[in-house]
Amino acid sequence: MNIIEVKDYQEMSERAAKYIMGKVTANPSITLGLATGSTPVGTYKNLIRDHQENGTSYRDVTTFNLDEYVGLSGDDPNSYQYFMNEQLFNHIDINKANTHIPRGDASNLQEECMRYEELIAQNGGIELQVLGIGSNGHIGFNEPGTSFQSKTHIVQLTDSTIHANARFFDRVEDVPTKAVSMGISTIMKSKEILLLVSGENKNEAMHKLVGSEENENFPASVLKNHPSVTIIADQPALQGVKIPQL
Ligand code: PGA
Repeated sequence: MNIIEVKDYQEMSERAAKYIMGKVTANPSITLGLATGSTPVGTYKNLIRDHQENGTSYRDVTTFNLDEYVGLSGDDPNSYQYFMNEQLFNHIDINKANTHIPRGDASNLQEECMRYEELIAQNGGIELQVLGIGSNGHIGFNEPGTSFQSKTHIVQLTDSTIHANARFFDRVEDVPTKAVSMGISTIMKSKEILLLVSGENKNEAMHKLVGSEENENFPASVLKNHPSVTIIADQPALQGVKIPQL
């Protein structure tokens, strides 16, 4: 794991966007894995600005998002489909037909999980997966205890995740309790991973990530087994963390 320390959220967002833009420029038909949540919003803003000012094109890019809430259709303002359209896709020249997000409103969710997993494989896999981390160490919606062998699956969100995400909803009762998420093995198949971490509320997670052995009770620890992980983390997230020297 290569850890890049930056000052704050803004610098993390700029560095991450540059990283992604570099990959897209080098391979205009790259397949990206994308994430939702507060962490990547600034990164997406920088990608949009660069697209408008410098013309970096996403015409031939394919994307797969990590997860979607069960029960929400793609036009629900709280869905991750809606989030991605608003925060990124509507503002760049990507072909929406090439943007993929699990269907949280599928009538058969098991089939939807299998379809999504197969679609990623048929597409040749994900080249660069962007990840955030939950304060409990989750990646995607893979909560503590999830098998490292898991494929795209239906997950029961923990209380801590429901409360962390309640800020996006009117009431905590409105937060869905289940989601469809890429599994940990799905994420681990990506050729490269870019983990973005910002803020004091992620500091404990960073201590655990750097300091603990791989274990299923801290899902992000699986990244220690991945050959190509870059972490861009800001100072509040890294406070007191001993960055391993390569
Ligand atoms: P956040 O979520 O970016 O909103 O902090 C990250 C995550 O839960 O993976």
